[in-house]
Amino acid sequence: MSEFQSMTSIDGLIQPTATAAVPVMDRGFLYGDSIYEVFRTYDGVPLFYEEHWKRFENSADLIHLRLQYSMEDIGAEVKRTVKASGAVEAKRDVYVRYVVTRGEGALGLLPDAKANQRLIVIVMAVPEWDQVFYFSGVSLAISRTRRNEPHTLDPNIKGGNYLNNVMGVIEAREQGADDSLMLDSADLITEASNSNVFFVRNNEVLTPSQVSANLKGITKESVRQICAAGGIPYREAELTLDDLLAADECFITSATREIMPVRKVLLGDGRSRDFPAGGGPQTRTMAGLYKQFVRDYVENHQHYSMY
Ligand SMILES: Cc1ncc(COP(=O)(O)O)c(C=O)c1O
Repeated sequence: MSEFQSMTSIDGLIQPTATAAVPVMDRGFLYGDSIYEVFRTYDGVPLFYEEHWKRFENSADLIHLRLQYSMEDIGAEVKRTVKASGAVEAKRDVYVRYVVTRGEGALGLLPDAKANQRLIVIVMAVPEWDQVFYFSGVSLAISRTRRNEPHTLDPNIKGGNYLNNVMGVIEAREQGADDSLMLDSADLITEASNSNVFFVRNNEVLTPSQVSANLKGITKESVRQICAAGGIPYREAELTLDDLLAADECFITSATREIMPVRKVLLGDGRSRDFPAGGGPQTRTMAGLYKQFVRDYVENHQHYSMY
């Protein structure tokens, strides 16, 4: 096969994603009782594969799941599925999502610890974000729904239950924005629906600390490392809407978006804050440094290449 086709492995059976299906009694389907990671490849190299694996293990610990798969097991299945998609022959980069669900069982919330967990690997084309998001920026709106907190459903569980974030993005769209910016119950800024948020004030890069509810993004960690290496002031803090209003620039980060400028935030009370189109100088610097950071990683991790 030389044409690329999105493929999915479910418990080792690889099929076209369009028709791949899990049984209705799967707890991932019934209860969102699953965990996952998403990464993309660059020149065939899975970006930050080990870092994703560590976060995956942490998600497993947080939901009391004793993983039945090792990093090597999942790595092998990822490779098989990528190969079956034709991406290797086409030398095409891919988006990979691996998911482990707590498997099947009788109806009822308490899981059977002995049930076989289900491993799903989805290989798709890397999402192509509208270029307008880069040369202009995304708009965010504060959603009415607050981000769930560590003592309710820990945002560091990267799990199959995304209803909190789904509500956030629906409510943001209702306000005419592209994505949500979610607060926690203490009015602290947390994150966007599936990306971390940053502000720049007087050249300092600011992002919500773990005091507010947000996922420890792997792209966010890269931003921290890039700032440390480049002597760029960086601080994780408890940030409020006053900090947002006082900021000069704003951007969001995720594995697939990389560094994406925010051009406007609607505060939900009639007020809004505009930021420089295409990102201000610090956002553009960070976007360039991130691309270099990725190139360096890829150069140093050629042994992971899927090609
Ligand atoms: C809720 C949430 N926050 C932040 C992120 C960004 O994380 P990463 O940089 O690891 O992609 C994601 C990514 O999927 C997410 O779902």
